Amino acid sequence: MSDVPTDSDTPAPPRGAGPRAALLLIVGLVVVTAAATFGLTALLLNISGHKQEEKNPFYRVVELTDETEDPAVWGKNFPQQYDGYLKTAEMRRTRFGGSESVARTPSSDDPREAVSRSKVDADPRLKTIWAGYAFAVDYRERRGHAYMLIDQMFTQRQRVKQQPGTCIHCHGSVYVPYKAAGNGDLIKGFEALNHLKYEEARTNGAHPVKYPLACIDCHDPRTMQLRVTRPGFLEGIRALKASEGKPDYDPNRDATRQQMRTFVCAQCHVEYYFRGDEKRLVYPWSQGNRYDDMLKYFDETQGKDGKPFSDWTHKLTGAPLLKAQHPEFETWSQGTHAKAGVACADCHMPYARVGALKISDHHVRSPLLNINHACQTCHHTTEADLLARATLIQDRTRQLEDIALDALVDLIADIQAARKAGATDAQLGAKDGPWAYQRKAQYFVDLVCSENSMGFHAPQETARALAQAIDWVRRGQVAVRALTTPARPK
Ligand code: HEC
Ligand code: HEC
Ligand code: HEC
Ligand code: HEC
Ligand code: HEC
Repeated sequence: MSDVPTDSDTPAPPRGAGPRAALLLIVGLVVVTAAATFGLTALLLNISGHKQEEKNPFYRVVELTDETEDPAVWGKNFPQQYDGYLKTAEMRRTRFGGSESVARTPSSDDPREAVSRSKVDADPRLKTIWAGYAFAVDYRERRGHAYMLIDQMFTQRQRVKQQPGTCIHCHGSVYVPYKAAGNGDLIKGFEALNHLKYEEARTNGAHPVKYPLACIDCHDPRTMQLRVTRPGFLEGIRALKASEGKPDYDPNRDATRQQMRTFVCAQCHVEYYFRGDEKRLVYPWSQGNRYDDMLKYFDETQGKDGKPFSDWTHKLTGAPLLKAQHPEFETWSQGTHAKAGVACADCHMPYARVGALKISDHHVRSPLLNINHACQTCHHTTEADLLARATLIQDRTRQLEDIALDALVDLIADIQAARKAGATDAQLGAKDGPWAYQRKAQYFVDLVCSENSMGFHAPQETARALAQAIDWVRRGQVAVRALTTPARPK
């Protein structure tokens, strides 16, 4: 368990200091032991050539500016990173993660020839828990970053409901388009596009969105330092830090390099909602980012009707509910790895050697397809053992998730039956009534179902959330019984 990065406030030494020191040592040894050999000169030349590469890991073939969007242009300076980036188009599945290519016949409203597997077809209980909401119609397994823009453009969710411009925030390279739409001001551009119709925002006249997530979204083109460019995250993390007593937080100024190796991912892999008519993208973290904090946030946030915020009204029960999506950052935050300072990039973009260069693997994917680089740098055990440990966590989570889903579906059936038997909305919606429990249980079960690691990012917290949800279902069923069982004569 060595080599664990620490989250100290001192910036990490420039990359390559370690290897360089090691090289000097090797050079010293070589000089002592092989001073008389002919090979020495050649060897030293070779080593100094590699040292040169480490010190100057890229050759500026092209000048990159804050307007250079096209990743292929960046790729001229950084071919290895670009190669990895392109590989995100590969589809490979693991037991619970990755993705599998499913062939489809292109249609007039969807030209895709392959998609990933449908989650709602695989588990019809999801259609029940999201009845009346667009997710019940089309919700698929995530796949690589290369697909983020087309998958968003052509999901059936776009057909059943007019989606807002806000959606584009996490599905395309929006840095240049936002700045163009805001006359140079990122936040103004974000505000200008959010409330438009999705297609209008994507093709906006100031500068259309052309690429999926690209280099410019995570890197400063001049220094190649990591940076955060997503307004939703900049505002969300500021609110989160303020709740921890740190006002006016700016990750681009205040975060350590190790924190940035998580924050660039947390720009998108988070829970979110659209606020008010402006459809502003908001990450619900002003009370903290644990699941309970986010539920509290929504319960205390007013929706349009003056009642607590809800994403939709459940078609079978009438309850006003919350839909959760991909809380990877929030979940990771509660796990052992986060506590040990292990960042998203440590597992999902681990270092790989290319010649004498140590580069970050830009083929962002399931770490279980890359255990050697993703885990074995820290865990000195076999690949098979690590895979077994991860799978054990995931199998247990899956089993608990199954129990919780069954329970939630049962509660929905019970509320439906009570409605048929004459229970009124006022009774169902009373404080601590059946709807209140469906809402809480739905949110927690959904946070786990829509989190993409099947429990791995924080096994115990995930299990706790599911146990909590099952208890809320039980209380909801007790509340239903109180409405439907005639009072016993005294
Ligand atoms: C200690 C290593 C580790 C860290 C740190 C980590 N993850 Fe993961 N992540 C995993 C593993 C293992 C899986 C499960 C992959 C699978 O089932 O194939 C996973 C799954 C995922 C998935 C689904 C991947 C897929 O192919 O289905 C996403 C998305 C994800 N993580 C994002 C993140 C984000 C964002 C962070 C940081 C906030 C993060 N992870 C931190 C190890 C890690
Ligand atoms: C806060 C960032 C964010 C916003 C805003 C966002 N997404 Fe996503 N979306 C993601 C992430 C991260 C994934 C991959 C993880 C997953 O699939 O759970 C994803 C996956 C998807 C997928 C592929 C999997 C699926 O659900 O079938 C589709 C389609 C999609 N989003 C559509 C949309 C639409 C439509 C909107 C607007 C209503 C939207 N997204 C808004 C971050 C976001
Ligand atoms: C601009 C928003 C955005 C950012 C930033 C982002 N992701 Fe994603 N990520 C997505 C979306 C959207 C998808 C799903 C695309 C789809 O299904 O079409 C996705 C998919 C993934 C997957 C699934 C890959 C697979 O092959 O199944 C992993 C793993 C992942 N992201 C991890 C990360 C990590 C780690 C980072 C940071 C280094 C990161 N993401 C940064 C939006 C983002
Ligand atoms: C989701 C965010 C993200 C995107 C998009 C991204 N990178 Fe990176 N990149 C990273 C992270 C994380 C690191 C590690 C930085 C660190 O540890 O300081 C990195 C490191 C680098 C480095 C430094 C050397 C290395 O490999 O560690 C280069 C060069 C680089 N990226 C080039 C690119 C290029 C070119 C593209 C586009 C094709 C790109 N990156 C897209 C997140 C990203
Ligand atoms: C940068 C170092 C680092 C990386 C990379 C890393 N781990 Fe860990 N891992 C740790 C540390 C530190 C702990 C906590 C150990 C402790 O407290 O005893 C830990 C704990 C664990 C645990 C037990 C805790 C839990 O959450 O249940 C498992 C299982 C585990 N790691 C698996 C993996 C797998 C699988 C990967 C690759 C996908 C991975 N780790 C990548 C450092 C790392």
